Amino acid sequence: MIELQKLPFADKALEPFISEETIKYHYYKHHNAYVNKLNDLIEDTKYNEMSLSSIIRDSEGAMFNNAAQVFNHTFYWNSLSPEKLSPSGNLLKKINNDFGSLEALKEEFIKTGSTLFGSGWVWLVREPKGQLKLKQTENAHTPLSSYLVPIFVCDVWEHAYYIDFRNLRPKYLEEFWDHINWDFAEEAFNKTNNHTFIGTEPCNDIHDPFCQVLDEIQDKDRVTS
Ligand SMILES: [Fe+2]
Repeated sequence: MIELQKLPFADKALEPFISEETIKYHYYKHHNAYVNKLNDLIEDTKYNEMSLSSIIRDSEGAMFNNAAQVFNHTFYWNSLSPEKLSPSGNLLKKINNDFGSLEALKEEFIKTGSTLFGSGWVWLVREPKGQLKLKQTENAHTPLSSYLVPIFVCDVWEHAYYIDFRNLRPKYLEEFWDHINWDFAEEAFNKTNNHTFIGTEPCNDIHDPFCQVLDEIQDKDRVTS
């Protein structure tokens, strides 16, 4: 059984960027509905005992869509911070190396999110050889399927921003940038290096949001150089 992860902040903590009303719909209705639907689908199947990430990698159709959306939303909430934070240390160095500057990453992030057609997600990911890339995924698709390490994610389904921004997705992306949880991003980044991968071992605690990704990262087996 998969559980709805608790929000890492209070319902009003992100106001005025994200209103309590959006949280009521997005977290308590949409995210919760994916969890409930997934639990209906896995009941009395082999998937009932599997971790969320294993379900994502092993399923297709409705089960994949609901499982991926559960993971993507949990990662999204953890990517957000009520306070303005900044990247530092190794992550900032890598951003400067791979994008030129933090400002260049911001510009590319807003462009990537604005140009995604329809519903989906914009991720900062770490590729197998270590480089950082921005990646769009459509609908429920997730970097977990391709063994990329997610660093942060922005939900660009309309349900994420329509109440607060109407159709102004670029403005939502701009304000998202100022609410990135760089501490969370750095934790993900620091658990990887140029030769690590997300492994295929199931995690032991399916209720730990970090477990879905970070505890599966291994520095062997799938190494490329
Ligand atoms: Fe969403």
